[in-house]
Amino acid sequence: MIKFDYRTYVSNFIDDNEYQNLLNKKEEVINKFKSYNMIGWTNRVSNDLVKDIKEEAEHIKKNFDCLVVVGIGGSFLGSYAFSHMFANYFNNNNFEVIYAGTSLSSKYMKELLSYLKEKDFCLCVISKSGTTMETTIAYKLLKDLLNKQHAPQEVRKRIITITDQEKGSLREETKEIGYKSYIIPNDIGGRYSFATPAHLLPLAVNYDIDSIISGYYLGKDLINEAYEYAVTRKLLFDKGKYVENYCVYEENMSFFTEWLKQLFGESEGKNGVGILPMSTVHTRDLHSLGQFIQEGNKIIFETFFKVDNSDLIFYDGKSLHDINNIVLDSVIAAHYSGGVPCILIDIDGLTNENIGELIYFFELSAAFSSILFGVNPFNQPGVEVYKKEVRERME
Ligand code: PA5
Repeated sequence: MIKFDYRTYVSNFIDDNEYQNLLNKKEEVINKFKSYNMIGWTNRVSNDLVKDIKEEAEHIKKNFDCLVVVGIGGSFLGSYAFSHMFANYFNNNNFEVIYAGTSLSSKYMKELLSYLKEKDFCLCVISKSGTTMETTIAYKLLKDLLNKQHAPQEVRKRIITITDQEKGSLREETKEIGYKSYIIPNDIGGRYSFATPAHLLPLAVNYDIDSIISGYYLGKDLINEAYEYAVTRKLLFDKGKYVENYCVYEENMSFFTEWLKQLFGESEGKNGVGILPMSTVHTRDLHSLGQFIQEGNKIIFETFFKVDNSDLIFYDGKSLHDINNIVLDSVIAAHYSGGVPCILIDIDGLTNENIGELIYFFELSAAFSSILFGVNPFNQPGVEVYKKEVRERME
């Protein structure tokens, strides 16, 4: 169960009439949303596909030492954020899944290639366009290692591609060599692709994707809450609150906030508008950015994630979890009194269903929010500008 509180610690900053006026635009915004041809993620993923993904995950676990996943942006963050959230901090018994292609670090790649030298690994390359530079480079270097380790017919069995159905060099290579492959549908963009093979396959190796998927589509019932969240953010932006800080109280949620930053940053940040997403992990960052948030430039509002937790450790008669929650409530009270509006999202446990549901909720909300800002939620033309510069310098 997820509860949203957009009022208690926001009301001083938002006028009821303004709120109602934007709420009244809901049908218009939903109609605009439906007019985009990039909302394939609102249709349920087929049972046959889920079955195939689960079988492939079993095959990977049975036959290989580890899975190396290559991808970046929307082809990386969803599954990585989820895994980071659900893996144990210590004594992690998960099947080993290693991510690559998220940077051009030669140190990382050198160490990875050396680590994999003695491993029999399966390589899963994920790129909708099939042309992303970081992904292409990492894929090529890792494939070279596979070619050194195995004969061509064995290399073929160790590569899985997840890409567009028709376009891109990755699809061409897949057709030519006959790799096991999955499709990222045409009508689903990277950051909205959580319930596609791009994320479900890496997750299926260690997690129950059925419960993640059923949770994800429960998010459909949160359409009103998703719209209200978008309205609240937009009105706060209109009051000069240009930055949203996502606050988590468990380090394991820190990549969930990275996923949020990409979702909102790439969807909304266009044509000179949009809210800049940032994140803090508490209580650590209260001892750094906490000062700025309390007393610095008042351009920030915050969204807090309060998560129930049953791992009870006691200190001085109180559970550590209760102390964490006391701090959370205190921080909200302090920041609100310091001129920082605070939104609260209350989650009754870090479960596959709840996180799946939240992911759909945020995808919907990012799309509504972008529409309220008057921009297309599903493109990212700005990202091309630096890529063009790179191409020119690489020639
Ligand atoms: O959300 C998006 O569309 C982007 O972040 C892409 O996912 C990212 O640029 C990677 O693209 P691709 O999957 O084509 O390699």
